[in-house]
Amino acid sequence: MSILVTGGAGYIGSHTIVCLLEKGEDVVVIDNYDNSSPEALRRVMQLTGKEFKVYEGDVCDRDLVERIMRENNVESVIHFAGHKAVGESVEKPLKYYKNNLISTLSLLDAMLAAGVNRLIFSSSATVYYKEDTVPLTEDERLGCINPYGWTKFMNEQIIRDACQANPSLSCVLLRYFNPVGAHPSGMIGEDPSGIPNNLMPYICQTAVGLRDHLTVFGNDYKTHDGTGVRDYLHVCDLAEGHAKAVSFARGRTGCEAINLGTGTGYSVLDIVKAFEKANGVKINYVIGPRRPGDLDENYSDPSKAERLLGWKATRTIEDMCRDGWNWQSKNPRGYRA
Ligand code: NAD
Ligand code: UFG
Repeated sequence: MSILVTGGAGYIGSHTIVCLLEKGEDVVVIDNYDNSSPEALRRVMQLTGKEFKVYEGDVCDRDLVERIMRENNVESVIHFAGHKAVGESVEKPLKYYKNNLISTLSLLDAMLAAGVNRLIFSSSATVYYKEDTVPLTEDERLGCINPYGWTKFMNEQIIRDACQANPSLSCVLLRYFNPVGAHPSGMIGEDPSGIPNNLMPYICQTAVGLRDHLTVFGNDYKTHDGTGVRDYLHVCDLAEGHAKAVSFARGRTGCEAINLGTGTGYSVLDIVKAFEKANGVKINYVIGPRRPGDLDENYSDPSKAERLLGWKATRTIEDMCRDGWNWQSKNPRGYRA
């Protein structure tokens, strides 16, 4: 029996595969390398000393996905595959709706045909309504402000409805907050294409000299130092959350949405200072205007994950900064080097 990991060559997928293999699970991967490199999977094999089957293909190809499930005796699916750049989704909404929705529809269709009942879906804190109060519980009102967010919202609804209609299905919608950092080995990590949109990869690229300086997007928010507050989460903690979600899904049916975050918020300047302290490097930064659509603060109430999955983040902000920098300094140009 094996777990099918869609988008397994990506940032979160590659870390999750390491965690699953270490727990003795068998995995099979499908990825079209739209936003990743086969090198990531080669390194996962090197790191764990374990081999697994990899299919280069598109999750929107329903028949291929069904064949993979049958050929590999798949019992659960973790669905990471999707486009994730918020800004690009505003410019090219159809690209996002097409890939992110059709991949999930094809996957569910193939699962039903092949008799695979368990699905763990990568959702996001972006599904929460902008005015919701923090800390965010899973019961808060939902609503999005960009096409990427709406694809997560719609996928959640599609999966909920599929569970309703098919009582043998067991699905978990994991709402991630801000995943950062890398495997402590420095062999795998986040490898954004082009200029990073997110804070931590931008800081890492500034530290390594690929960017001249970080622009802090606004210092007039209603937070302790005026800069935006987020719930940063070590990618290895996030990976363990997926392993726990697979075990949870095995023992039940139905659909649950679960936050994965630490429950603690850090500001942009907190992160800059923590990064400088953990790594003994200086980050040049300037204060710039606010980025449209950004919130003052966004952090989770992670108690449902502890209650249902027995999962709690254990890694500190220092771990996130140290491991992120270890990856970046060993791989200044990511997997391309
Ligand atoms: P990523 O881009 O590194 O990984 C996604 C992988 O999916 C890539 O390897 C890409 O090539 C592949 N892919 C995309 N479309 C595909 C398709 N149709 N068929 C096959 N492969 C396809 O992204 P990530 O950061 O690892 O994120 C994984 C998932 O988690 C995504 O769904 C993302 O939206 C979600 N998520 C990410 C974050 C974050 O901050 N990184 C936060 C919340 C949710
Ligand atoms: N920031 C900067 N400068 C930068 C980049 C970011 O000051 O160059 C700030 C932002 O304004 C924000 C904080 O750093 O205050 C975090 O920004 P990120 O872009 O790293 O993360 P977001 O919380 O804005 O977005 C992330 C994911 C989205 C997801 C969202 C859901 O990138 O995909 O969380 O909460 F939708």
